[in-house]
Amino acid sequence: MAYDPSSQSNISEVKTSHIHLDLVVDFATKILKGSAALNIVAVADNVAKVVLDTSYINIISATANGSVLKHSLAERDEKFGSALTIELPKPLAKDEKTTIVIDYTTTKDCTAIQWLEPEQTAGKKHPYLFTQCQAIHARSLLPCQDSPSVKLTYSANITTPLRAVMSAVPVGEEKHANGTTTYKFEQKTTMPSYLIALAVGNLEGREIGPRSTVWTEPEVIEAAAWEFVDTENFVRTGEELLTPYDWGRYDLLVLPASLNEGFTVFVERKIVGRMQGREHAEFSAIIGHKALVESVELYGSDHPFTALRPCLRGEDPDDAFSSVPYVFEPYLRAHVQEFAGRSINTDDWKAFLYSFMEKTFGQEKVDLLNQVDWNAWISGVGMPPVDNKFDQTLAKACNCLCKKWDESRHEKAPSEFSPKDLEDFSPTQKLVFLERVSELEALPHTHLDLMDELYQLTTVRNSEIRFRWHMVCLKADYEKIYPEVVEFAQTMGRMKFCRPLFRALYHAKNGAQLARDSFLAKRSFYHPIAAAMIAKDLGLS
Ligand SMILES: *[C@@H]1O[C@H](CO)[C@@H](O)[C@H](O)[C@H]1NC(C)=O
Ligand SMILES: *[C@@H]1O[C@H](CO)[C@@H](O)[C@H](O)[C@H]1NC(C)=O
Repeated sequence: MAYDPSSQSNISEVKTSHIHLDLVVDFATKILKGSAALNIVAVADNVAKVVLDTSYINIISATANGSVLKHSLAERDEKFGSALTIELPKPLAKDEKTTIVIDYTTTKDCTAIQWLEPEQTAGKKHPYLFTQCQAIHARSLLPCQDSPSVKLTYSANITTPLRAVMSAVPVGEEKHANGTTTYKFEQKTTMPSYLIALAVGNLEGREIGPRSTVWTEPEVIEAAAWEFVDTENFVRTGEELLTPYDWGRYDLLVLPASLNEGFTVFVERKIVGRMQGREHAEFSAIIGHKALVESVELYGSDHPFTALRPCLRGEDPDDAFSSVPYVFEPYLRAHVQEFAGRSINTDDWKAFLYSFMEKTFGQEKVDLLNQVDWNAWISGVGMPPVDNKFDQTLAKACNCLCKKWDESRHEKAPSEFSPKDLEDFSPTQKLVFLERVSELEALPHTHLDLMDELYQLTTVRNSEIRFRWHMVCLKADYEKIYPEVVEFAQTMGRMKFCRPLFRALYHAKNGAQLARDSFLAKRSFYHPIAAAMIAKDLGLS
């Protein structure tokens, strides 16, 4: 894959094999300052320049072996940033290597980096910084070939007054007289640049398994260690399902009110199936199916982002992020073994699926594959061309209760409900019940009053349940809930919650101005990516 519509780098001419970052963190000016050294190798002949992706980065100089290289920064493309072109001292032949060192600073506009004020942390005393480079924000953390087709190792020396952690193994620390410490890291497994991650703050680590430490602020470390006590079990089940976990450590970072990582939903569901039984996995698939229906509704069923192979040409990948690409199917283990450490495209995957099926099961399965409407599955838009049949055991009780409420909608004072209705429900069943209710035509306010009185939904603090209750109420323009929605959306940075809440409030009766005002009052609280998307939803950009 020598072409990536979301990168401006000349990836068909050069590849980066390793990056060393040397950065000083300055919380006072909210800037990272230092250098990125890129080990590059020519993958074509006669390569005279290296073009890198950057976004809102201030380039100071580019050098190779100590001599200064000519560089120029192109005018900014709104979605893809400014291409940085560096002229090599002499053209490289294929397979020739060199190292380019770029001195630079980040700016306050860099979308990968979020700086939190002390008040935004659990401890309220120290500032905090974290990065989020997926999908194409690595270019605003460092100049790089910001394409998943380029896989590299990295190392870093991060000098800061507070502890730094990265998506890499810590290999040493060096204290300085001025009160800062240099934290050193190495990541020896190749990975795309968007997985480079850094967090700096008043962080404490707690061992939670033979290869896992959870990092977070001391104020919440007990809760975090408890929350992730099952981590080793989770990783081991993943290993049984896929291949041995070969990154060495499986550490976790718990951010102060953070963005959610949607990354491995499919595998997560498989792991749940192994750990808790098929009923539970099917139940969570039902929930996922709902999320898919919502994504398709959000984009519109003829929108190109609803295709399994989204057309990204000229589009910002953040806008394309949804449940849609996660509707994958089996052969995981063989798939991971075959493609570990490589980036592939849809055609590579299909070719491998065919050869795997033929080798493992023979022509019969190939005939079956031939019956698949690949065009509809891969390039078709809207919902996938199947009607899923999930195990409904756990969903039945949720559906029944929902139906009862639906059927009671014309009664003045329904008396068939009681707090007992939810007594035997697991939290996930409560969530599914509310999801089902949210699919109904809005219930009368008298019914929402009653539901809240009996089930005490407004007082629930579980974010998943609270979120769905709010969505049920917003659909009905139930204004009593608005202050709760504002409170929740203003303190919850996870995009999967705050974005739909703001959007629903904006569209609810008398909610538009409130949604805008309450978002703008807290705008700096959100990760820049989330803030930009919410602003778009609320017609503010
Ligand atoms: C980073 O730290 C290592 C280990 O102390 C040191 O050898 C290296 O020179 C440092 N790298 C840079 C670029 O300063
Ligand atoms: C503190 O000292 C280190 C090591 O000399 C240096 O790299 C860093 O820039 C200094 N930090 C500040 C904030 O002055």
